[in-house]
Amino acid sequence: MNEQVASDIDRRRLSALLPMAEAEGALLHQQQLLHSILSSLPEQVLVLDNCGRIVLTNSAWERYRQEQASPDSLHTPTHGDNFIDFLVGRHHPFAGRLLLGICDVMDLRKLQFSFEYRDDSLDSHDWFSLKVTPWLGAAGGVVISQTDISRSKRLSAEHERLIALAENTSDLIAISDIDGRISYLNQAGRTFFGRAAMDPRGEFQTLAWLSAMQPLLTEQGQWSGESSLTRQDGVEVPVLMVLLAHCDRQGNISHISGIARDISELRRSAVELENRNAALVALNQQLAEMQDQLLQSEKLASLGQLAAGVAHEINNPIGYVNSNLASLSNYLQRLFRLIGSYESVLDKLADDDCKAAVQAEREALDYAFLRDDLTALLDESLEGVTRVKKIVEDLKGFSRTCSEADWEEADLHAGLDSTLNIVQNELRYKAEVVKAYGQLPKVECMLPHLNQVFMNMLINASHAIEDVGTIWIRTDILGEEVCVEIRDNGSGIAPQHLSRIFDPFYTTKPIGKGTGLGLSLSYGIVKKHHGRIDVESQPGQGSTFRIWLPIRQNSPAAAQSPARQGEAPTSAA
Ligand SMILES: Nc1ncnc2c1ncn2[C@@H]1O[C@H](COP(=O)(O)OP(=O)(O)OP(=O)(O)O)[C@@H](O)[C@H]1O
Ligand SMILES: [Mg+2]
Repeated sequence: MNEQVASDIDRRRLSALLPMAEAEGALLHQQQLLHSILSSLPEQVLVLDNCGRIVLTNSAWERYRQEQASPDSLHTPTHGDNFIDFLVGRHHPFAGRLLLGICDVMDLRKLQFSFEYRDDSLDSHDWFSLKVTPWLGAAGGVVISQTDISRSKRLSAEHERLIALAENTSDLIAISDIDGRISYLNQAGRTFFGRAAMDPRGEFQTLAWLSAMQPLLTEQGQWSGESSLTRQDGVEVPVLMVLLAHCDRQGNISHISGIARDISELRRSAVELENRNAALVALNQQLAEMQDQLLQSEKLASLGQLAAGVAHEINNPIGYVNSNLASLSNYLQRLFRLIGSYESVLDKLADDDCKAAVQAEREALDYAFLRDDLTALLDESLEGVTRVKKIVEDLKGFSRTCSEADWEEADLHAGLDSTLNIVQNELRYKAEVVKAYGQLPKVECMLPHLNQVFMNMLINASHAIEDVGTIWIRTDILGEEVCVEIRDNGSGIAPQHLSRIFDPFYTTKPIGKGTGLGLSLSYGIVKKHHGRIDVESQPGQGSTFRIWLPIRQNSPAAAQSPARQGEAPTSAA
């Protein structure tokens, strides 16, 4: 009986124990499940009981705790430690705030407490987002979960910096989807496109040019080159553009980003640069031509000096040849006179044989011809030497250099004649020279310089005559001025060239024939004399150059001269 009772009791105990074991097993299972859930969480989790004691941590917390050696880190405590006591004794700048938050949630003053902080006690200065929620399983207990948000913080800081950069650049930056709907347009872009980019609500519109590039971008992935964009005021602006396609995981284009730089200024500068370059090339060519011409005129100048030197050297021998010829002529006359006396004595005294012998000798020597020809030869030689002397003198006078001190009262007709003498060779077969000299007083001038003016004008006139023509030289006096007019019936000057003929180096003649300096030098010389030059010309009919000069340099005519007032020479077609 007792054994029966005892076994009944054991059976009942056993049946009472079985559900407990099952419940324990289920609890264990749940605990394992909870642990594996907690371990798989990326957040660091702490579970506190209502006294603040850590009753549970997950592996993320433990991992972090082991990595952080600093005693100030909030990650130091672990299972069994009292987290509230730990916070109370901490110098961590956020410890007090967290403590208050935990207490608020524990005392149910708040349903949840969260904040973000940067843990300066860590070398990495990592950022955390911390959340405290009540643990419903134990009154007053809380769950603290903490997420490392350093990466997203860094990303957002980087993003902000990039946005600041994009907003402040003068280039246009846009990001759109493949249909051209803008998701971002920087400040420069918003200003550029204005209403074309924003609808009245201030939202971005579609930019057709972005979507139009899609086929090309699908093929190439990116594109760069010159294009043009229409500004909000309708102006087409040339741009340098870079477009990039951004693809999703499947490799389809999800976005297009573009950067465009306004290159209108660059284009303008390039055009300007090209123009300047062309101008420089032209100038360079002009300079090269000028250099050629200068060399030419230098050669002419040195030829002038050479001529003066030669003239000087010839002057002496010509002098004594001239005087010797004069003496020779004189001596010959005397010799002929003597021979004449002998002949008359011979006629009276000699016998016939003697006379016949002398007569035969006279005939053999052709004495009569000899005597006549000798005189003629000497006269011719004397005339030739006199002409050479005149040319040498003219040449000397012409090429003599003069200074301010060489002002003189000179006969312009003498100057014109000596110049004509020098250019005679040039004119001889080209033009008949018709002189119509008036009554001129002596003119205060530097005659060699004026001779140069006359010479250039005479040679110009001769060059203008194609075959044979006439050059008229007329002089006149008008009040306090004299006028030297040199007219030709040559080719004349075209009206469009008339204003340029006094420019230095302006010439229509081939190199070697003209330097283009003649008239500009002439203008300078006449200006120095306080005179002026005027020109009349008819193409195909001829030209007239008039040189007006004041008779006296201190006269009112000189004072009123346009040259004194800085005026250019006058020309008329
Ligand atoms: N009488 C004229 N008839 C037609 N054209 C003339 C006459 N005089 C000057 N010209 C024109 O004016 C240009 C300039 O004359 P200028 O005397 O200054 O230079 P050039 O005669 O060409 O050269 P340079 O005198 O230096 O040897 C000439 O090339 C010519 O085209
Ligand atoms: Mg000339």
